[in-house]
Amino acid sequence: MRALVEIEDLSVEILRGRGKNGQVLPILRHIDLSVEKGEVLGLVGESGCGKTMTILALMGLLPEGGRISTGKIWFQDRELTALSRREIEALRGKRITTIFQEPMTSLNPLLSIGEQMKEILYRHEGLKGKANRDKCVSLLQAVKIPEAEKIYDYYPFKLSGGMRQRVMIAMALSCEPELIIADEPTTALDVTTQAQILDLFNELRGRTRSSFIFVTHDLGIIAEIADRTAVIYAGYVVEECSVAALFERPLHPYTDGLMRSRMGRRNSNRANLYSIPGVVPVPGNMPPGCPFAPRCTYTTEQCRAELPPLAIPSLPEIEGGHKVRCWRQVS
Ligand SMILES: Nc1ncnc2c1ncn2[C@@H]1O[C@H](COP(=O)(O)OP(=O)(O)O)[C@@H](O)[C@H]1O
Ligand SMILES: [Mg+2]
Repeated sequence: MRALVEIEDLSVEILRGRGKNGQVLPILRHIDLSVEKGEVLGLVGESGCGKTMTILALMGLLPEGGRISTGKIWFQDRELTALSRREIEALRGKRITTIFQEPMTSLNPLLSIGEQMKEILYRHEGLKGKANRDKCVSLLQAVKIPEAEKIYDYYPFKLSGGMRQRVMIAMALSCEPELIIADEPTTALDVTTQAQILDLFNELRGRTRSSFIFVTHDLGIIAEIADRTAVIYAGYVVEECSVAALFERPLHPYTDGLMRSRMGRRNSNRANLYSIPGVVPVPGNMPPGCPFAPRCTYTTEQCRAELPPLAIPSLPEIEGGHKVRCWRQVS
């Protein structure tokens, strides 16, 4: 039996420019990921590593010039990459829903909250009139929006960022989707609101049967919300394991660097602030070999020359589900 979502050997590239000057930029490289029923998969990595692009490929929403160059994506035994535009549109918003970072860009400023919520329930479930309104209000209540009846008639600009994100979550829950994808849903919020929204997600995952893909650049959020995690660097998955294993024993130097920067941030002593030296390489200008080699303290000749496989390390104490793409762990 397949998992709910299976991404197999997914590569995505973007064509920039035309004709002779046209350039093919590799964005994602041979990504393998799966999400089980009821599971929360955390996708973590610095900005520009390919998290959003992975989501967009899964949703069939790659930007202009973008295409899948290798691989397949399965959702409940259906190959998404082989579906027609209409078939995939029928899944989106109903079976697979998304919550993005900035709710103001996802909400239509010209329509009231109720009008936007109503539309989803009408389109996908054929709900009308009072039944539709009642369901919308109960969804707003489910995401702990006070005075839901009143908020139903509000326009988005009247709500705070946190409240708008709650509305987006309510909309994402409308049709009881099998998969909810949240792409940095708390990044634009202040710390207190962020904590409240994370609490809400945690509560929802206990209450719904949905699976989640939770995208973040913050390992602290992974710790709070995910069951399993994939660390993405420069378009590659570099480490994949349970969250417990990730915090107990990160095996990739990149993951370790993310972990150390995180701890530095918690510490009030600025002298202890750590950040990984260098920057994420840009597509079209990737180093040969391991993409992390230029920033890594353990780099050898082999790292500079050859890409390591994503493999289960040969350490006896490592559980089978833990995979890492690093020459140090390949025997
Ligand atoms: N429309 C686009 N055209 C060309 N490159 C893009 C486009 N969108 C994103 N990219 C590049 O793809 C890479 C991955 O981006 P993205 O998936 O948005 O990263 P993340 O979500 O992890 O911050 C980045 O190098 C980014 O610059
Ligand atoms: Mg992103």
